[in-house]
Amino acid sequence: MNYLVTGGAGFIGANFVKYLLKNRQDIKLIVLDDLTYAGNLGTIKEELKNPKIAFVKGNICDPQVVETVFEKYNVDFVLNFAAESHVDRSIENPQLFLQTNILGTQNLLETAKKYWTKGKDENGYPVYREGVKYLQVSTDEVYGSLGDTGYFTEKTPLDPRSPYSASKTGADLIVTAYSETYKLPVNITRCSNNYGPYHFPEKLIPLIIKNILEGKKLPVYGDGSNVRDWLYVEDHCKAIDTVLHKGSPGEIYNIGGHNEKKNIEIVKLTLSTIRRLMEENPAYRKALKVSGNSIDWICEDLITYVKDRLGHDKRYAIDPKKITTELGWYPETKFEDGIVKTIRWYLENQDWVAEVTSGDYQHYYQQMYGNR
Ligand code: NAD
Ligand code: TYD
Repeated sequence: MNYLVTGGAGFIGANFVKYLLKNRQDIKLIVLDDLTYAGNLGTIKEELKNPKIAFVKGNICDPQVVETVFEKYNVDFVLNFAAESHVDRSIENPQLFLQTNILGTQNLLETAKKYWTKGKDENGYPVYREGVKYLQVSTDEVYGSLGDTGYFTEKTPLDPRSPYSASKTGADLIVTAYSETYKLPVNITRCSNNYGPYHFPEKLIPLIIKNILEGKKLPVYGDGSNVRDWLYVEDHCKAIDTVLHKGSPGEIYNIGGHNEKKNIEIVKLTLSTIRRLMEENPAYRKALKVSGNSIDWICEDLITYVKDRLGHDKRYAIDPKKITTELGWYPETKFEDGIVKTIRWYLENQDWVAEVTSGDYQHYYQQMYGNR
């Protein structure tokens, strides 16, 4: 089968590419990515040596680009990971989020409809080539924010609050519209916060790791009591693969592993884990960007509470009952193990961090945190 993976040079997309090559035989993978600040070909450089993969640099909003891909490759599945994905950036520049996340999605849907249609039924609905599917990688943020209790189910009303989540909601609605209006076979997955290797260091966990290694302050928004529901990225990839192959067309599936943590807990755990790993294995101190042998300064004194994010959602928490009971998916990585695996990966892969942060990131960091 031929998989078109958009955004395959970003955090989750790249992990998905790796997952697929490891776990599925007889596949052809076409990665379409515009290589924005968040996309890095280095992340999938080993995979790109594999003849099963083709890489196309291009924008999902560009009809010509997407048509060319469909023209050249007999695409069976579209997995749309490509997006502007960072809430803070969406607050600075909402329009780019609407363009990429909504119009890009619509362009992919339209092209898939065109190339997959083989005729019409008696009611005028398109009839599609057997076995094709479009999967939209969405987020739990479309449901808005929870209070102290309760969970997001697939029936929770959509209530996005940031430009990012509003754009992802718009994308979900246009996917549903193609499903209803044109009977295009689609699924939408809505996952909670991911963590793991290759996460761009503008997001909480990799940013905290990076700052600790540089001896910088650790910016916690507000009072640090906001809650996120964390899932190891490989578990997300497995869930997407499961939905693609077993999900009923037209259905939405929430993905999460019941792992709620306050932001401040995450920051403290990251601090104590880095320190412990460096005490146990002094070789890890090579990742430090500050001179001197002592690591006594790796402690909670580094934490600094900064101005809160505008419209900061209080709590996210997924109810994954539907995907677990109907499709048999369950998360395999316990948070205690996943976070250590992730931190070890960053300690061992500082070259990757240097590579992805060499350009736009410095400017972004100065703008976001420079004068806080
Ligand atoms: P990311 O920002 O790390 O990667 C996005 C990728 O998309 C990059 O490779 C980028 O170059 C590419 N891209 C951006 N605009 C493009 C365009 N116009 N055309 C082609 N490529 C473009 O994002 P991520 O964290 O890997 O998220 C992937 C998807 O998963 C997104 O749709 C996001 O909304 C969703 N999601 C993310 C999380 C999370 O915790 N990170 C959780 C749930 C859902
Ligand atoms: P983030 O990783 O940006 O993901 P999202 O906003 O999509 O959930 O942020 C996770 C949480 O961490 C969120 O509540 C905001 C908070 N946060 C900080 O406290 N400090 C930071 O520097 C960042 C980037 C995030």
